[in-house]
Amino acid sequence: MSQETSQHAKPSTTIELKDLGTVHRLGFGAMRIVGDGVWGEPADRKAAVDVVKRAVELGVDFIDTADSYGPNVSEEILAEALHPYKSGLKIATKVGFTRTGPNVWVPLGRAEYLRQQTELSLRKLKVDSLDLLQLHRIDPKVDPDEQFSVLRDLQNEGKVKALGLSQVSVAELEEAGKYFTVSTVQNRFNLTDRSSEDVLNYAEANGIGFIPWAPISAGDLAKPGGPLDELAARLGATTSQVALAWLLRRSPVIMPIPGTASIRHLEENLAAANLELDDRSYAELEAMR
Ligand SMILES: NC(=O)c1ccc[n+]([C@@H]2O[C@H](COP(=O)([O-])OP(=O)(O)OC[C@H]3O[C@@H](n4cnc5c(N)ncnc54)[C@H](OP(=O)(O)O)[C@@H]3O)[C@@H](O)[C@H]2O)c1
Repeated sequence: MSQETSQHAKPSTTIELKDLGTVHRLGFGAMRIVGDGVWGEPADRKAAVDVVKRAVELGVDFIDTADSYGPNVSEEILAEALHPYKSGLKIATKVGFTRTGPNVWVPLGRAEYLRQQTELSLRKLKVDSLDLLQLHRIDPKVDPDEQFSVLRDLQNEGKVKALGLSQVSVAELEEAGKYFTVSTVQNRFNLTDRSSEDVLNYAEANGIGFIPWAPISAGDLAKPGGPLDELAARLGATTSQVALAWLLRRSPVIMPIPGTASIRHLEENLAAANLELDDRSYAELEAMR
């Protein structure tokens, strides 16, 4: 299998998310379509719009973004590229980080800020109700009760259909679950970072979508000379496809959202749905810690 086969790639299998419905498990992360340091405009805005359009053309129906990507720029590009939205397309956004410069991320979880940012995401994405709102981080300086309560209120008011969390522990997931139904959890997870395995197991046991961010380790697993070279060559696939195929096989609740600003990489990544790892290859990857 090569990246050229992507035009004919079969879509990934689906997952039914609580409060949201069914989406294909292999989605798209929209953090990379903005400027360096996840700050400001991309070098080529038209190219960014084209990547997003191509993702949906190729069957992606789950896109992950955040108010803080740019900030604002990622959500605005999604709306420019895709609004009015194709039926069935779900856009997940996040609130809870302020941005004060390139690569600087400062949690802010006060209820009025989370509410303001939700209102602004509705405006930027040009919708009456967000498909999935994820709390980007629990702000350690703010009582979790304040943060979880406002999310529950926003859902009760119809401004948000489904709710999720990001970079949390099992205990935090359980606590949030007392306030609202948790549809998704988004933690860093890939072949070389399995520190959130306990959260993945909890998600699997409780029917929660697990969105592994940095699924190809922010690009490291796609670089030549990495740990996947030999196996990828044996399978006739690329290393990023192996990293994504491992995630897709690892658990039926895993929803990888590889991020890219390149159509070539997008097509290559989506074709990972065609790569079914045989038992021997999967065992080798499992053993690679
Ligand atoms: N919840 C959170 O706290 C959090 C944190 C970070 C990210 N996220 C979300 O998770 C998504 C994925 O994470 P990520 O973007 O950091 O990491 P990733 O998907 O593991 O890797 C993205 C990086 O890899 C490169 N890349 C992608 N496909 C490639 C390919 N086939 N060959 C070679 N290089 C490739 C991209 O560069 P090119 O543009 O050159 O392809 C980009 O630099 C983000 O887009 C965002 O939506 C969430």
